[in-house]
Amino acid sequence: MAYDAWFRDAETGNGRWELDDIIYRSPTGGLLEVAHDLPLLKARSAAAWMKLWDSRYKRTQWPYGSGVWGKKELVLPNIPDEHVVSLDEGGTNLFWAERFGREIGLPDLWVKQCGVSHTGSFKDLGMTVLVSQVNHMVRSGKRKILGVACASTGDTSAALAAYAAAAGLPAVVLLPKGKISAAQLIQPIANNALTLALDTDFDGCMRLVQQLTEDKKLYLANSMNSLRVEGQKTVGIEICQQFDWELPDWIFIPGGNLGNVSALYKGFEEIRELGIISRIPRIVCCQAEAANPLYLAYKSGWKEFHPITALQTQASAIRIGDPVSRPKAMKALMQHDGRVEQASEQELADASARADRTGLFNCPHTGVALACLLKFAARGELKRTDRVVVVSTAHGLKFTESKAAYHLGGNLPGVKPSHPNPMIELGADRQAVYDAVMRHMERTFG
Ligand SMILES: Cc1ncc(COP(=O)(O)O)c(C=O)c1O
Repeated sequence: MAYDAWFRDAETGNGRWELDDIIYRSPTGGLLEVAHDLPLLKARSAAAWMKLWDSRYKRTQWPYGSGVWGKKELVLPNIPDEHVVSLDEGGTNLFWAERFGREIGLPDLWVKQCGVSHTGSFKDLGMTVLVSQVNHMVRSGKRKILGVACASTGDTSAALAAYAAAAGLPAVVLLPKGKISAAQLIQPIANNALTLALDTDFDGCMRLVQQLTEDKKLYLANSMNSLRVEGQKTVGIEICQQFDWELPDWIFIPGGNLGNVSALYKGFEEIRELGIISRIPRIVCCQAEAANPLYLAYKSGWKEFHPITALQTQASAIRIGDPVSRPKAMKALMQHDGRVEQASEQELADASARADRTGLFNCPHTGVALACLLKFAARGELKRTDRVVVVSTAHGLKFTESKAAYHLGGNLPGVKPSHPNPMIELGADRQAVYDAVMRHMERTFG
């Protein structure tokens, strides 16, 4: 069956542009989205879709074992398999946060570990789609493209550089100088991307990359390019699949540029259309207080939105004051009665540390989502029987600087750690070591 997909105006649903067109906005300046031929997709029953997607999930038939390409019909149906650039993204584990959940009165709490992936963040989900499409246009001779480019708070550049390197395409990344972690910075450098550290913030980099890609020599790889959303939307579908096609009640997800929360809704809306689900979970978009323009808009009753200058935060990947995907995110949140919450530096650091003590090793952005979850739980907004999923967006190993500062007494502005676990330095002395162990056991276990 030949399914079709094309770009259309995300706001109005009008217009039609081919996916091979180099276009990021509609003529009126609005964002685009990828539309699918849902009536044709619906000709296959919901049960048949679930069976097909389950038969591919994490299997070896390339590229369908990927969590993204296993749903190829709903992602990029027409790309030839040989042009797909996949590093086996998706299929990440759904961690039953049993101990943490029990501590906070939510025994059915899960963490979707999107950071346990090739480049250590959820960005792989969208980048495989975008780079595959570019690879297709280049290899098939449809378009002359010199390379791919993005602005980034660290994770997008890592994903773009890796996928471009795997495809043999040149990559250019624009980063705000001194505002991303060392692990994030070394990723594009190691993957041979042209890495430009600019004297500005992410919003400044975003403006520049839009100018840089205007003449279409370089292809824009930020999530304002709706191809990225097509990959990222599979995360919600996959969560549902991992629960044997049952839905959670709540999903908490960190938000910066707001592509990911928009993607989450799009995936759910589409599988609802296919009859696989009949409702959409309550989604809470979680922002750092230092970078909270969406939260402020939500608090105004969605009456007004004002870009802000985002301040320093441990959650550096969501330090964004003027989110590009804001119109899509607001539309979806309003339509589905979604919620927005914020977390202070103290709250996110403590929530992250507290969850780590129960076996996680989460990044500060996941810390934001966990802190917002704690606020909802404390206010009694979640029922004990609710199934709750927190989307963890990156691997904690990419953000060791803030974790080390938290535990080892480093400089963490605005934070007095409530759960530090400082290292103890001792001489190589049997008695000293024994005493330290016993003191620890007594203090911890009584
Ligand atoms: C680790 C991490 N979490 C959350 C986000 C927020 O995603 P989005 O910008 O799509 O809202 C990003 C990227 O910006 C990220 O890198």
